[in-house]
Amino acid sequence: MFPEHRPRRLRGTAAMRRLVSETTLRPRQLILPMFVAEGADAPRPISSMPGVVQHSRDSLRKAAVEAVRAGVGGLMLFGVPKVHDAVGSGATDENGVLNVALRDLRAELGDDTVLMADTCLDEFTDHGHCGVLRRGEAGEDTVDNDATLERYAEMAIAQARAGAHVLGPSGMMDGQVGVIRRALDDAGYADTGILAYSAKYASAFYGPFREAVDSQLKGDRKTYQQDPGNAREALREIELDLAEGADAIMVKPALSYLDVIKAAAELSPVPVAAYNISGEYAMVEAAVANGWLERERTVLEVLTSIRRAGADMILTYWAAEAATWLDREK
Ligand code: PBG
Repeated sequence: MFPEHRPRRLRGTAAMRRLVSETTLRPRQLILPMFVAEGADAPRPISSMPGVVQHSRDSLRKAAVEAVRAGVGGLMLFGVPKVHDAVGSGATDENGVLNVALRDLRAELGDDTVLMADTCLDEFTDHGHCGVLRRGEAGEDTVDNDATLERYAEMAIAQARAGAHVLGPSGMMDGQVGVIRRALDDAGYADTGILAYSAKYASAFYGPFREAVDSQLKGDRKTYQQDPGNAREALREIELDLAEGADAIMVKPALSYLDVIKAAAELSPVPVAAYNISGEYAMVEAAVANGWLERERTVLEVLTSIRRAGADMILTYWAAEAATWLDREK
């Protein structure tokens, strides 16, 4: 008899497919990144990310409550300040937009969700880099690693004080996890966690995020973010962050780096997150808007693929909506 083996038997009905499905995708595994703009009195659309907005304080609160009600596992906040300066003062000001928003959401949601904050200066600096600059010998500006760490330590304490459960250092400075851990512990925030953006690549796919946070950046971040061609280097970054006390690690972006997610998942003793970033969102939404892709199916396939590669949790701009779709499934 031929064929002897018939794998299609396991695909014949929806019930059979559900029974043998290897990968789960649940709302609790999704983290919603959110933007809050200083001085906004209504949500402002982000044209390159249809459906995503820069929130006002008020609309942020409402959208956060809604997302938590839909079952998402956490929220990741980004601030869009009115004023930028060389050292990103707004990041450490307790009345800075991000810290105010953290206090709002912690008051509103308490411990009902995991409230996270982007711990990075790029949204707040007038040059758009993730740290403070130093003038080099040839007159060129470089990001000063160790001077930046001092700012991160201050920023971390401000965010913990404002109510963040977990901090997300995303600047790719050497030693950032260790410095933040020590600063938190010394300031009495031993229970505040760190989700380390460990393997973060210098990616073209961050494009729409620049619009989302009104980024002032000219140029690129290649002196601190990783070269897209390097995989081994990601493992080194992860090991260092683990040694420095990361509670969870992240690979970012997700779709072009599924191999890195897989390698991270194989070695990591702590949860692995992947960030399905702005450009990945924009590509799908643009194709959907043209009628070229089916929205819900495509989004769920993207998220399932990231889970299959090994991510325990996914930061995605579709988190709240996908949670409502997934809720319909048994
Ligand atoms: C840095 C940061 C960036 C993103 C998250 N945190 C931008 C960058 O590194 O250039 C990008 C997220 C996205 O593109 O969705 N604070």
